[in-house]
Amino acid sequence: MELAQAARSQWKSRLGAVLAAAGSAVGLGNIWKFPYLVGANGGAAFVLLYLAFVLLIGIPLIMTEFVVGRKTTRNPGGAFRELAPGTAWVIPGISGVVAGFLILSFYSVVAGWVLRYAVTSLLGALSGLNPEGAAALFTEFIGGTWAPLFWHLLFMALTVYIVAAGVQEGIEKWSKILMPGLFILVIILVIRSLTLPGSHPGIAYYLQPDFSALTGKSVLAALGQMFFSLSLGMGCMITYGSYISRQDSLVKTAGQVGLIDTLVALLAGLVIFPAAFAFGIEPGAGPGLVFITLPAIFAQMPLGQFFACLFFLLLAIAALTSSISLLETVVAYFVDEKDWGRRQAAVVWGGLAFLAGIPSALSQGAVNLTVFGLSFLDAVDYLTSNILLPLGGLLTALFVGWRMRQEDVLAEALQGGGMTTGMAQVWYFLVRTIAPLAIGLIFANAIGLF
Ligand code: TRP
Repeated sequence: MELAQAARSQWKSRLGAVLAAAGSAVGLGNIWKFPYLVGANGGAAFVLLYLAFVLLIGIPLIMTEFVVGRKTTRNPGGAFRELAPGTAWVIPGISGVVAGFLILSFYSVVAGWVLRYAVTSLLGALSGLNPEGAAALFTEFIGGTWAPLFWHLLFMALTVYIVAAGVQEGIEKWSKILMPGLFILVIILVIRSLTLPGSHPGIAYYLQPDFSALTGKSVLAALGQMFFSLSLGMGCMITYGSYISRQDSLVKTAGQVGLIDTLVALLAGLVIFPAAFAFGIEPGAGPGLVFITLPAIFAQMPLGQFFACLFFLLLAIAALTSSISLLETVVAYFVDEKDWGRRQAAVVWGGLAFLAGIPSALSQGAVNLTVFGLSFLDAVDYLTSNILLPLGGLLTALFVGWRMRQEDVLAEALQGGGMTTGMAQVWYFLVRTIAPLAIGLIFANAIGLF
């Protein structure tokens, strides 16, 4: 056992662990999804609710997944199997793998849009666009057939390439350069956005809550977004936790990952809403919000095309550090549990995820593909973010809170320091009762049980 642990890869430092896990967490969820969900769900009240979920459920659950991962040093499927052999507790592990696959299928489509914007801005097609022009360009591009498929394929191929090569070295090294770069660029954009004439109503919209705007559905959306953005509920953080050294503090790592991810999302909102109001773009415009607002901002900046290219490039790479964590979780399962080769698993599952993403790519105008009134892409997003991930998180919390032995859980949580026994008790209580109850109630509320 000791030997096996020593032979397995680990992050080189705690900073490396934080940045790698933050690399998984920070991605399209923060910059693309968060602003449009805030816009579609009434603004500041949604933001506040989101923050409450991150603090009370999200960060404790990152910690929970880390505990499961580091204790077993396994992928999610193997971790549950080792801790509760021969029981139905493999289900959260397996459902995580399925959710990861489904998320990857549409994630790559949207990341493909980002890639294409990086290249387009380099070629000057975004220069001087007004908001109407930006909207028309976006609608025309995503409504096409071959272009969205091409960029989806390219992004998936990059993901497969990195995962097939093995990830630890690459992920850790890349994340250390990229994350700070993206962060600085977002700060520059915040400043530009806040200084646009007419931007102030956007700040009020973003920061002054009106709780009457919240419905059961938007509460579920805030919960689902918390899971999606923190890479929770499918075992990504179990996998990444399994690489954390036993000398490192889990609670500090979990807290910092939660903080960084939330900060980037909040800043993204501070870029989008002031600018949307300044340009007269409807904040509830849906999934296109970022792709329409940002080019309009860049058009108003000195060196705008340069910044546009840099921004979309960094965003594409941030999406890449997230998509590899999705594919890696699927691959780790097939490598560890089914004895597949890493390369084979990456190519097969990445290839299948590409195929599974085709309906999502085409559902944006090329073909009329809707499920329950949502485009196919939005429907897969809804199913995974708002149902599968919270369900996975619920089961993981119940497992750690009720099935594992309390001494084992607390010992693993405290190993590496950073937390007093009292804090560990509070965390344990949140995981055992508050998190499962909250998730259960939000589900019940959203399907109209109350
Ligand atoms: N968190 C990433 C984002 O915000 C996406 C992601 C990566 C993810 N791994 C995940 C979402 C696991 C859910 C589960 O873009």
